[in-house]
Amino acid sequence: MKKLRAAITAVHGYVPDYVLTNEELATMVDTNDEWIRTRTGVSERRILKGEDQGSSVMGAEAVKGLCEKRGISTDEIDMILCATATPDMLFPATANIIADKVGARNAFGYDVLAACSGFLYALVTASKYVESGSHKKVVVVGADKMSSIVDYTDRATCILFGDGAGAVLLEPTENDTGIIDSVLKSDGVGRHHLYQKAGGSAFPANQETVAAKEHFIHQDGKTVFKFAVKNMADVSFEVMERNNLSGDDIDWLVPHQANKRIIDATASRMNLDPKKVMLNIQRYGNTTTATIPLCLWEWETKLKKDSKLMLAAFGGGFTWGAVYLKWSYNT
Ligand code: UT7
Repeated sequence: MKKLRAAITAVHGYVPDYVLTNEELATMVDTNDEWIRTRTGVSERRILKGEDQGSSVMGAEAVKGLCEKRGISTDEIDMILCATATPDMLFPATANIIADKVGARNAFGYDVLAACSGFLYALVTASKYVESGSHKKVVVVGADKMSSIVDYTDRATCILFGDGAGAVLLEPTENDTGIIDSVLKSDGVGRHHLYQKAGGSAFPANQETVAAKEHFIHQDGKTVFKFAVKNMADVSFEVMERNNLSGDDIDWLVPHQANKRIIDATASRMNLDPKKVMLNIQRYGNTTTATIPLCLWEWETKLKKDSKLMLAAFGGGFTWGAVYLKWSYNT
């Protein structure tokens, strides 16, 4: 029997309606459109408004759209993995909440927490279930409501992040498409440079943690930038070398959208034509686990069967990785 591969057979995304522009941010903190665009590449980002609206709201929309596109009932899903750094609550898992919202009654699922690399971690984990033959319709969703943990008085972080969700369906295939190779890495030494300190078991919520703003993202931007530039480029290059690929062989780089300068450095290390880089940071900012599936969703019509894609990410933890796959369908 031929080896089973896990192929993406559908992709869908969801972003909330509210557009938070650089101009509006400049009325909230001491910043300006020019600084934000030139230092990060972001012009605007989406924000999920309303009471009781967590990441699952966006994740469920992405999953519903995914099933409609593929023409399957949500009952047919056998597993949902949700990558998120902003779960609706610490438990139960947002994957469970999404399954309930979309009516995926036959799916088991859990959350994957690897910050901005979460989608790649979840994608690779899900692919192993599909390759083993144990699961046939596995949904991987990345959903983050970053606005729920952003301090809108901190100009160094509030300009970067936005809200959104994206989802892919993985199914087994015996042809040569699907996920071919991946390298995932982590190093907990980076945990002090990008984190949300309080609200977990080490620093439970109390009046002091709230007063000290410890429920918001804290980022040492310069240090994270240095690690991100090196590691995202290195790991993409490593996966290329392992698969004897040159920049010319890759059709698309699908990078995590944290900062346009990090993306440019990765493309340059891969010796890749900038036209082959998916870039939507200008419209959505950094949506953490949603950046990569949102890119795939927006570029879907340009992708062809056998297109060679390199997915790459870097984030809190530190966590990072790259996934090489061949696209499995024509739209
Ligand atoms: O997705 C997870 C991984 N995260 C990342 O990959 C993010 C990595 N880090 C970055 O993208 C960048 O470090 C930032 C965009 C966060 C910051 O850019 P930077 O070029 O590293 O700026 P900086 O922190 O070195 O600050 C340069 C200057 C400072 O002023 P002084 O000290 O030179 O007078 C900052 O106070 O820019 C100032 N500054 C701002 N000015 C206007 C910082 N934020 C702003 C702002 N508007 N929003």
